[in-house]
Amino acid sequence: MSYILGLESSCDDTSAAVLDGEGRVMSNVLASQDAVHAPYGGVVPELASRQHLRNMAGTVRSALLKANIDKKDLSAVAVTVGPGLLGSLLVGVSYAKAFAWGLSIPVYGINHVQAHLRSPWIEKPDLPYPSLGLAVSGGHSHLFLCSSPEHVTMVARTRDDAAGEALDKLAKRLNLPYPGGPVIDRLSSRGDSRAIPFTMPRMASGSLDYSFSGLKTAALHYMISNGLEPASRPDLDALPQWEYDLLASFQKRVVDHLLQRLKKAALLYRPASLVMAGGVACNSVLRARFTTLGEDLGILTGFPSPCFCSDNGAMIAFYTHSTAACARPSGLELDAFPTVRWEQAVAP
Ligand code: KG4
Ligand code: ZN
Repeated sequence: MSYILGLESSCDDTSAAVLDGEGRVMSNVLASQDAVHAPYGGVVPELASRQHLRNMAGTVRSALLKANIDKKDLSAVAVTVGPGLLGSLLVGVSYAKAFAWGLSIPVYGINHVQAHLRSPWIEKPDLPYPSLGLAVSGGHSHLFLCSSPEHVTMVARTRDDAAGEALDKLAKRLNLPYPGGPVIDRLSSRGDSRAIPFTMPRMASGSLDYSFSGLKTAALHYMISNGLEPASRPDLDALPQWEYDLLASFQKRVVDHLLQRLKKAALLYRPASLVMAGGVACNSVLRARFTTLGEDLGILTGFPSPCFCSDNGAMIAFYTHSTAACARPSGLELDAFPTVRWEQAVAP
């Protein structure tokens, strides 16, 4: 049996996973950096790369241990080469090259966003292509048309903040724990999502692009104009009702905006499946409404379990296993790419 080691270090999570020759995830280990970045309410790039350096070897050891294999059983190493934070990427890429060289096995450089877009297939291998994919996290809120795992064209992108970034920034303003997205997801169930009817973001040109910064400003404006000030050390179980309502209303609009564009794009491109991945794809309201949208449109939907939604090594190994990336191993010249220039989708 051949095994692939997948490494991910593009942002603030260090992850290593082992996939067997049939594409089954044998282990998927994550070393979170949330505690490191929490005091700043966002990822501090210099701290992230330093932490990857500390975490990488131990994370790989745990992944091998959990998969119950020796490193000599590995047939390849796959690593995220971009997009992401350059310092963070370089830790993973350097580690992967050294590891692969030491074992005389090939190393594959994988595009992080393409791996996210492919991740729903880990658990739903029969989803059909072409697929319309939403990559939604703290760094991306982009829509892609995927005619295959490798041929991916951009339909829409965020013009300012990513959806997760907007959730994290609102949480920070309310002195809620970092990262804000999961906290807002949990606390929103206590609020009335229709209490504050935030205006939906609009694009003058009728473009499908996203924009979340206006929503964030509207939330801050709402607090200022109503003289609302959050507690400096809030008790999450006893927030004033206006805060629960604000969180629920804000989350609703973020989901409305994500799905409104997705629906328009689905009607335009008529894909065979709708998929989403990225940390925000863990959101309970988004998951429920995404499924309903697919049912309404008569299009199959897929999104991974939360452990494969946020940044993870399994999706990196899986992309390598399940695509022709395997035919193109890189050598020691493998480099990191903080940004990626996407080919634009052509409207039908
Ligand atoms: O994909 P990810 O782990 O890292 C990158 O940003 O690449 O995504 C992290 C983002 C954060 O903004 C976090 O607040 C958000 O995903 N997030 C959520 C939820 N879980 C994580 N947002 C909304 N609801 C959630 N349940
Ligand atoms: Zn990601």
